[in-house]
Amino acid sequence: MNHHLIAPSILSANFLDLRRDIEMLNRSEADWIHLDIMDGVFVPNISFGFPVINSLKQVTDKPLDVHLMIVQPEKFVSEVAAAGAYMMNVHYEACIHLHRVVEEIKKAGMKAGVTLNPHTPISLLEDILHELDMVLLMSVNPGFGGQKFIEHSVQKVSDLKEMILRKNLSTLIEVDGGVNFETGKRLVDAGADVLVAGNFIFSSENPIEIICQLKNL
Ligand code: DX5
Ligand code: ZN
Repeated sequence: MNHHLIAPSILSANFLDLRRDIEMLNRSEADWIHLDIMDGVFVPNISFGFPVINSLKQVTDKPLDVHLMIVQPEKFVSEVAAAGAYMMNVHYEACIHLHRVVEEIKKAGMKAGVTLNPHTPISLLEDILHELDMVLLMSVNPGFGGQKFIEHSVQKVSDLKEMILRKNLSTLIEVDGGVNFETGKRLVDAGADVLVAGNFIFSSENPIEIICQLKNL
């Protein structure tokens, strides 16, 4: 059995009844809660922001895994920290001075994650990987829940795992987009440490059971 973590994305939750969905996650085997912040500029969609995170952190003790799909994420390091984030993920494509942003995230007391869009090669991480707590590989183009899994992501996970082991690091690999039992199994076998799943969990009649089965892939 693999020892990976599950981070449900509340992008597909019921926003009218968010407390109920968070309480369901509290009772589940979910390890983290994944929060997708979108600005309508970096991605063609707008989701939710700090008022929502600040409210939901009052009803959960699960670590918050914040995925910022926004331009200039460096502007919000202190807000994300104040919102109680455990992990702050910024997109490689959104940061000109990525090294500085990563330093600031860690200085603010959070774990630092860097996210790659599907077209961004992992080789671009060669000179920053040792500074990172996690790499978040997008297995769909960011912006929406419920999209089709991009097959090449599995190869990308094994290549990144190889790079991490070659450098003798313990950087986590998280994968986000189109995760279900079938894609999830192949991703953890390839070396993924954390699986994000939104639509697959929240469209189910029994989300707690889906999380349990994802955990036991
Ligand atoms: C996509 C988001 C994902 C999304 C995943 O832009 O980053 O976290 O919620 O959704 P599913 O699991 O529905 O593909
Ligand atoms: Zn995400």
